[in-house]
Amino acid sequence: MVIIEPSILSADFTKLGDAVREAEGAGVTWIQIDVMDGRFVPNINFGPGVVAAIRPLVKLKLDVHLMIVEPEKYIKLFAESGADRIIVHQEVCYHLHRVLESIRELGIQSGVTLNPGTPPSAIGEVLELADFVQVMGVNPGFGGQKFIWSQLDKIRAIKEMLDRKGLDVPIGLDGGIDTETAPEVVRAGATVLVAGSSVYNNRARVRDNIRALLDSVQ
Ligand code: DX5
Repeated sequence: MVIIEPSILSADFTKLGDAVREAEGAGVTWIQIDVMDGRFVPNINFGPGVVAAIRPLVKLKLDVHLMIVEPEKYIKLFAESGADRIIVHQEVCYHLHRVLESIRELGIQSGVTLNPGTPPSAIGEVLELADFVQVMGVNPGFGGQKFIWSQLDKIRAIKEMLDRKGLDVPIGLDGGIDTETAPEVVRAGATVLVAGSSVYNNRARVRDNIRALLDSVQ
């Protein structure tokens, strides 16, 4: 089953409470909160305070995507702030195996993600420690960018790696999801579509945008 996971990076920051409530009203079960430090990515935005502020507003599961250096320093704080899953970038974890273990030790789900330039083999040794594998469809830092089509092969490669190990771990694609790319991404093996600007925009309501994405992958 394919799920749409809205990313609030493209929502109206003056109305984040409304944005997450609209997503919940549209029937989604996860929402992604992008955390950026201006060092790993050329943008700065949410911190644990935003996660804590959103937490009591919805029953949605909060998926915190750490686009920061030294994520290991902050996973406890984000978990305490209400994260149900924390996704870290392989590129900034000297000890990725240990970081994923420590996220699970906090009693929440672990996620690992790869930039477009990082090969799937970079996570081959930690798949057993990941509850979620996220492929970046864009270079992280901003919403509304063009999808990098070469990432379809990476989804296929990761799916093969998981199948070979007998691991039933969902694969997500984050970045560049719209009604054109979504079907190809699902065909490649992803079941979680993290979508920002195709959900939060001034073209249509959140629920209508989510419905359009789901219809595109039927
Ligand atoms: C980019 C973020 C993505 C982004 C997706 O760094 O990780 O979640 O918000 O935005 P769209 O769907 O607009 O590409």
